[in-house]
Amino acid sequence: MARGKQPNKPQRTPKVHRAVVTRTVDDFEAAFWPDEQPVDNAVVMTMGALHEGHAALIRAARKQVGREGRVAVTVFVNPLQFGPGEDLERYPRTLDDDVRLAEEHGADVVFAPSAEEVYPNGEPQVRMAAGPMGERFEGATRPGHFDGVLTVVAKLLHITDPDFAFFGEKDAQQLAIIQRMVADLDFDVEIVGVPTVREEDGLALSSRNRYLSAEDREHALALSKALFAGRDAAAQGPKAVREAASAALDGAEGVTLDYLALIDPHDFSEAADDFQGEAVLAVAAKVGPTRLIDNVRIIVR
Ligand code: PAF
Repeated sequence: MARGKQPNKPQRTPKVHRAVVTRTVDDFEAAFWPDEQPVDNAVVMTMGALHEGHAALIRAARKQVGREGRVAVTVFVNPLQFGPGEDLERYPRTLDDDVRLAEEHGADVVFAPSAEEVYPNGEPQVRMAAGPMGERFEGATRPGHFDGVLTVVAKLLHITDPDFAFFGEKDAQQLAIIQRMVADLDFDVEIVGVPTVREEDGLALSSRNRYLSAEDREHALALSKALFAGRDAAAQGPKAVREAASAALDGAEGVTLDYLALIDPHDFSEAADDFQGEAVLAVAAKVGPTRLIDNVRIIVR
């Protein structure tokens, strides 16, 4: 008999990390702080429809807090950040799959509250204001969007009270505004940005990609190609970056451009022609009926 093989002994199944799913603030608190032991903890905020990009956030959170620390994933489709005619009703809701992915990548607790749990007094009368940083680019096309994002992020930071909160660099403007809120209003949390995850052909992962037809998906590749063309011109300065990216998008089939911009990440304003240093080259466009955003971080010389 081969060494170690004991036919009559029951096979040991590998230990599966299970996440506790909670729906109320009280249940969340009981699950996230089961005892008084002081351990590092981290939160990954999502609207569900989790994919490999979220998995990267959860893994980064787990790595940050270590085996002993605690990781929470929030799943809440926040009505405040959707404008009229946006896809609130149609936004994918896939909680069972989300829980599976979250626990597979190291979450201890999933907090999936109802709108009534998050906003028990109905629509909040007092909200966070993103200010000028929230009025440009995404904010120009989606007025009030970042006020809605900040309002729920502030609430979820209060509820989860983490040491670290992880957000994707794919939503570069959101990340910059959250970092600014935390700095300007003295929130006691470290905001950590995690690089965008892409398919092999360059398409940035997004929960909205599931709306793309095969043809739209092909057309959507024009966005990352334009960003990569801009990135390749980074050594020649801002003008060259803009020209290379916009030439790559010129005549792209099935793409209706909203903006293509080289951005100073500190205040999320358009980078001047003599800008040097770390910048965000960002694009937003409709591909078929689906609005997509993407960006790359580049060092402009
Ligand atoms: O990036 C998102 O999924 C959302 O904007 C967030 C941060 C979870 C707030 O609803």
